[in-house]
Amino acid sequence: MFFGWLKHYMPRSLYGRAALILIVPIVGLQLIVSIIFIQRHFDDVTTQMTRSMAIELRLVLAQYDTAGVSELAAPLKIELAAGEIIEERRRWYDFSGLIVRRELFGMLDGVQAIDLPDGRVLRVEVDTERGPVVLSFDRLRVSASNPHQLLVYMIGFGVLMTMIAYIYLRNQLRPIKRLARAAAAFGRGQVNDFRPSGAIEVRAAGHAFLDMRNRIERQIEQRTLMLSGVSHDLRTPLTRMKLGLSLLEDEDREPLERDVTEMQRLLDEFLSFAKGASEGEAEACDPFELVRAIVEDCERVGQDVTLGALEGEGSGLVTLRRIGVRRAVENLVGNAVRYGNKAVVSVALTERALRIRVEDDGPGIAVDDREEALKPFARLDAARNQNKGSGVGLGLSIAMDVARAHGGILRLSESTDLGGLRADIVIGR
Ligand SMILES: Nc1ncnc2c1ncn2[C@@H]1O[C@H](COP(=O)(O)OP(=O)(O)OP(=O)(O)O)[C@@H](O)[C@H]1O
Ligand SMILES: [Mg+2]
Repeated sequence: MFFGWLKHYMPRSLYGRAALILIVPIVGLQLIVSIIFIQRHFDDVTTQMTRSMAIELRLVLAQYDTAGVSELAAPLKIELAAGEIIEERRRWYDFSGLIVRRELFGMLDGVQAIDLPDGRVLRVEVDTERGPVVLSFDRLRVSASNPHQLLVYMIGFGVLMTMIAYIYLRNQLRPIKRLARAAAAFGRGQVNDFRPSGAIEVRAAGHAFLDMRNRIERQIEQRTLMLSGVSHDLRTPLTRMKLGLSLLEDEDREPLERDVTEMQRLLDEFLSFAKGASEGEAEACDPFELVRAIVEDCERVGQDVTLGALEGEGSGLVTLRRIGVRRAVENLVGNAVRYGNKAVVSVALTERALRIRVEDDGPGIAVDDREEALKPFARLDAARNQNKGSGVGLGLSIAMDVARAHGGILRLSESTDLGGLRADIVIGR
C-alpha cells in the first residue's frame, strides 16, 4: 500500500531515478553522520568548558570564605553577590544547558540552584558558611559555539559533488537515450545512424539491437526479392501467352485471354504487396497535400471519391513514405468503391498523430470478421462479393503493413456518417 503510494511520487525518468538512487543515500548518510558527530562534539566541548568553569568558581568561592569578598572574582570576570535564586529558568531548546547543570551540580559542592535565563548570562546559587551567594558569569564561557563553518563547507561541497555526479551520470545515460531513439525510429520504419557506445551493458544492448535490425532488414529484403522475382519472371511468359492468344483464330480465345489478364493483375498485386511498405524513402511531407493528390488521382480513374474534412490543430510536416501511404490509401479507396458506392477520405492531424480515414456506404465488416479481413489473402463472404470482381485479399494487409512500417496501426470500425466500413490509418509523429 505504502509503496504503491510512494511509486506515484517517484520520478519516472531514468535521470530522476538515478539521481534519487545517488543522492538519497549520500545525503542521508552525511546528514545522520554529521548530526551525530556535531551533537557529540558539542556535548563534549560543553562538558569540558563547564568543568574548567567549575574549577574557577571553586577558586572564587574558596577566597570568599576566608576574606569576605573574593579578590579573584574580578580578574576571573565572575560577579559575586549574596542572595538567593528565586526562579530556575531554562529555555526548552537549550539542550547544552542540561549538560551545564549536570556538570555544575556534580563538581561544585553546595549548589542550590542554577538559572539559565537566556543565552547571555548564567547564575549559580551556592551555599557557603556566610550564607547563600549567587555567582553570575557570561554564558558563552560554558557554551561551545555553533559549528557554522563545518555546515557551510558540508553544504557547499555537497552541492559541488552532486553537480559533478550529475554531469557524469548524464554522460552515462546518453547512450541509453540514443538506443531508445534508434529503436523508436526503427519501429516507425526509419533506419537512423546509430553506433553503440557507453558502458559495456549498454553497448551490448546496442549491438544486439543492431543485429536484430540487420536481420529484420535482411528478411524484408529477401521477402521482397523473392516475391518480386517470382512475379517478374512469371510476367514474361504471361505476356508471351497473351501475344500468342491474340494470334489465335479460335472462338474459345476470349475467356483464355480474360484469364491471362486476370493473372497479370494478380501478379501486379503480389508485386505491390511484396514491395509493401519498404519501398521508397521516408521523407517529411505535408499529409493534407499528399492525401489531396491521392484523392484527385482516384477521381480521375472514375472512382466516386470525395475529400472530407481536413481537421486537427496540428500542423507541419510528417515523416512518411509517400509511395507506401499512397498504396495504402488507394487500396482502402478501392475497397470502399468496390464494396460500397462511394468513398470519403478525411485527414486529421494533431500534435502527436496523423489519422487518414476512408469511409464508405457499403455493408461494412462485422466486428468478428475484422481480424480475419486484415490477413493476407483473406476474402470474406465470397458470395457477397461475387459480382464485384474477385480480389486477391491483399488490400487490407497492404494498408496495415504500411501503417505498421510507420509505427502506426490500421483500425477498422463502422462509419457513423455513411454506415459502411471506416478504415483509419493512425500514425504517431
Ligand atoms: N470497404 C469494405 N466494405 C466491406 N467489406 C470490405 C471492405 N473492405 C474489405 N472488405 C472485406 O475484406 C476482405 C479483405 O479485403 P482486402 O482489401 O484485403 O482484399 P480484397 O479487396 O478482397 O482483394 P484486393 O484488395 O487484394 O483486390 C474483402 O474480401 C471484403 O470481404
Ligand atoms: Mg481490396
